[in-house]
Amino acid sequence: MSGPLVLGIESSCDETGVGIVRGHELLANEVASSVEEHVRFGGVVPEVASRAHLQAIVPALQRAQANAGIDLSEVDAIAVTSGPGLMGALVVGLAAAKALAVALNKPLYGLNHLVGHVAVDLLDHGPLPMPCAALLVSGGHTSLLHVRDITGDITELGATIDDAAGEAYDKVSRLLGLGYPGGPVIDKLAAEGNPKAIAFPRGLTAQKDLVNHRFDYSFSGLKTAVSRWVETRRRDGQEVPMADVAASFQEAVADVLTAKAVDACDYLGVDTILLGGGVAANSRLRGLLEERTAAAGITLRRPRPGLCTDNGAMIAVLGAEVVAAGRRPSSLDIGADSGMPV
Ligand code: KG4
Ligand code: ZN
Repeated sequence: MSGPLVLGIESSCDETGVGIVRGHELLANEVASSVEEHVRFGGVVPEVASRAHLQAIVPALQRAQANAGIDLSEVDAIAVTSGPGLMGALVVGLAAAKALAVALNKPLYGLNHLVGHVAVDLLDHGPLPMPCAALLVSGGHTSLLHVRDITGDITELGATIDDAAGEAYDKVSRLLGLGYPGGPVIDKLAAEGNPKAIAFPRGLTAQKDLVNHRFDYSFSGLKTAVSRWVETRRRDGQEVPMADVAASFQEAVADVLTAKAVDACDYLGVDTILLGGGVAANSRLRGLLEERTAAAGITLRRPRPGLCTDNGAMIAVLGAEVVAAGRRPSSLDIGADSGMPV
């Protein structure tokens, strides 16, 4: 398989990623995570993340280059996440990418992080049927996208109006005293619980919310409901059935995410949906989405778990698509846009 040789840099949150691809072929994907440094704070601390990027970026670049077995002068372009994400974190990756672009005299492409989460699937499963839908769920985002052309024609069908799904996992985990990040531990605990034990609310699914063909999500009310339920139990001196709380919470999240995703596919008339982001690792979300998409005749695509979380390869492969499509490079004075829309 051939295609442009692209180096991609990702630094929008707590992962410093450098990936190298040739078209849809993955040559290197180095990720250094600062998650351990955020554990004692119970969530990502922007300043801590920025400092960690600064320390990790050059070693990650060197490892990626060595693993790909290329000389940096061979690359056709430098791609970098320019938004959305944490401002101080984004600028570290952007500064590194600009320095490389200038030193190597290569074009620079500032790219959208969310679209990178969609593009990364090309590395595992090849071309995506267009148009398709994409459900991206992580600690920082919960978005439902309508993708007509990955290099420039994407619209947002819905997004969270408050907490991201992963953020809700992390908050509920803290409430239950299970630590950070909360997703994997709640997922494991939920396997021993009854998902029907407690009827937690499904945000924004009332008839009045289903207007204007928006497929927005809300997880803040769910988090509050879990908190109230647990506090009432504790106050009354009753035991908290942790596994049942985890399973019932997880069921509520998976139920709304998958129901709206399938509704969106139906509304759009698309027959393929891609699931991406760190929460795509969740067993119930995957299982329920598999079930509901199969029942609706929709093909589900999901990159391998290691590519679902933030990494440089997702930006590199999006860069390769953008270069192959003949898109104009970004200007070298491009800034970071923490709230960048798709
Ligand atoms: O994509 P990611 O690595 O980073 C960003 O937030 O961008 O996603 C991390 C999030 C965390 O909130 C974590 O709790 C959640 O993904 N997560 C999970 C699972 N594994 C990770 N959530 C639910 N179930 C999981 N198995
Ligand atoms: Zn992400």
